[in-house]
Amino acid sequence: MDRRAHWEEVYRTKPRDTVSWFQPVPQASLDAIARHGGNPARSLIDVGGGASTLVAELAARGWRDLAVLDISAPALEVARAAMGAESAKVDWIVADAANWNPARHYDIWHDRAVFHFLTEESARAGYRSALMQGLAPGGLLVMATFALDGPEKCSGLPVQRYGPQELAATLGEGLDLQEHWHESHVTPGGGMQNFNWCVLRRVSG
Ligand SMILES: C[S@@+](CC[C@H](N)C(=O)[O-])C[C@H]1O[C@@H](n2cnc3c(N)ncnc32)[C@H](O)[C@@H]1O
Repeated sequence: MDRRAHWEEVYRTKPRDTVSWFQPVPQASLDAIARHGGNPARSLIDVGGGASTLVAELAARGWRDLAVLDISAPALEVARAAMGAESAKVDWIVADAANWNPARHYDIWHDRAVFHFLTEESARAGYRSALMQGLAPGGLLVMATFALDGPEKCSGLPVQRYGPQELAATLGEGLDLQEHWHESHVTPGGGMQNFNWCVLRRVSG
């Protein structure tokens, strides 16, 4: 089964509050965005956002320039349906983040548990190219991957685990690491998953 088919199947068959990565409120993301100056006048894209409630939470706080990209159309349908009329304010993009040409800049690029699925260098290179095309100079990258002591698989797929230095080095030049922390995410099933969170700022000019 290819990646797109895998993720379409996941969101067609599993309610969003039963998947291991579910969180009712994406508090770590909201706090990090606020801590680093994010405000409703900024634009944000949630890359691999799936059925996350992040853009719904931001829309409720007055953000108006929001986008979600995901490889799985059914994931976006779930998120869109849950938002109701507010969903019209969000740009929903079905695409592979490792093979995407953003047509505009975003002030904030958010990625929770997506980049770590890119276990081949060619896919990581494609993602980096999209990132450097889509993230505004001076913009913020908020990224969470499984930590070095995190699980080796997610949704049955192998992942690449990172510490903050490894992640910053993999993302390459042009991004300054501002902050990092470790989080133990409790899954709906009561399991524990260790995440590595990094906030990086794109060097301007
Ligand atoms: C573990 S889930 C995390 C979802 C969301 N970020 C969250 O925190 O709730 C991974 C998500 O990445 C999406 N995804 C996986 N590979 C992708 C790719 N190459 N491009 C875009 N989305 C991808 C999946 O469809 C899924 O929604």
